[in-house]
Amino acid sequence: MAKVIALANHKGGVGKTTSTQNIGAGLSIAGHKVLLVDFDPQANLSDAFGYDEVERSIYDALTNKKNGIPVAMVTENLHIVPADLDLSVAEIELSGRTGREFILHEALETIKDQYDFILIDCPPSLGLLTINALTAADEVYIPLDSQYFSMKGLDKLMFVINQIRGRLKQNVEINGVFLTRFDSRVVVNRNVAEMVDNNFPGKLFKTRIRRNIALVEAPIEDMHIFDYAPESNGAKDYKLLVDEILKLQGK
Ligand SMILES: Nc1ncnc2c1ncn2[C@@H]1O[C@H](COP(=O)(O)OP(=O)(O)OP(=O)(O)O)[C@@H](O)[C@H]1O
Ligand SMILES: [Mg+2]
Repeated sequence: MAKVIALANHKGGVGKTTSTQNIGAGLSIAGHKVLLVDFDPQANLSDAFGYDEVERSIYDALTNKKNGIPVAMVTENLHIVPADLDLSVAEIELSGRTGREFILHEALETIKDQYDFILIDCPPSLGLLTINALTAADEVYIPLDSQYFSMKGLDKLMFVINQIRGRLKQNVEINGVFLTRFDSRVVVNRNVAEMVDNNFPGKLFKTRIRRNIALVEAPIEDMHIFDYAPESNGAKDYKLLVDEILKLQGK
């Protein structure tokens, strides 16, 4: 049965999509069966694998259950459910439904047993889509960019997670915070690492994802970092993060 992990942070541009793509790729290269779910109407994750004009997307699976989940194969071990802009109206369309917070959860139940890991790339908001991702997830990973204000507003994400645990009775755990675009020469970046450690004791991954241009270039070529630039710092850092994740998962 798959471990479902949501990559969430309502702050935009912190590395959710880059991390979903490359952690997913890294896990699949390590031999695990991985499904990536693009749950952001911007569809950046789908684009990053070259799925920019799809016939069916996660939106269909949410709005028309009987059609099942449209899964595309990147490799044998790495699959993706693409998104498109239609997903932006799902929040409004689904908001009147009973059980509206659990629609993704129910959709994933049907395919959970086919994977070791399901990673959900969340949009930069705390609306119904992110709530659906969090109720579907066993764990949340929070990517943080290493800037001074990166912790600001995180209390809102904690509030939503606590509501999901309380009111919606789902046991989602924050099992990791990691720093992206890290530069150890910048004092602010080092301070952020300390602040995270104080706010989330024991939850900060040791691996820091350094600032690396190959991570920007790879998705433009429809590739993950391990194919695009296997010797880059980006590939080295995401490999270390994947190793750390697998160790935490006892795998
Ligand atoms: N380690 C890194 N080094 C340099 N650039 C990076 C790194 N990680 C991400 N980026 C770049 O930063 C930008 C934002 O990253 P990304 O799209 O992964 O963030 P996001 O949190 O998914 O954004 P959004 O909230 O809009 O969905 C992208 O242009 C990406 O290529
Ligand atoms: Mg994104």
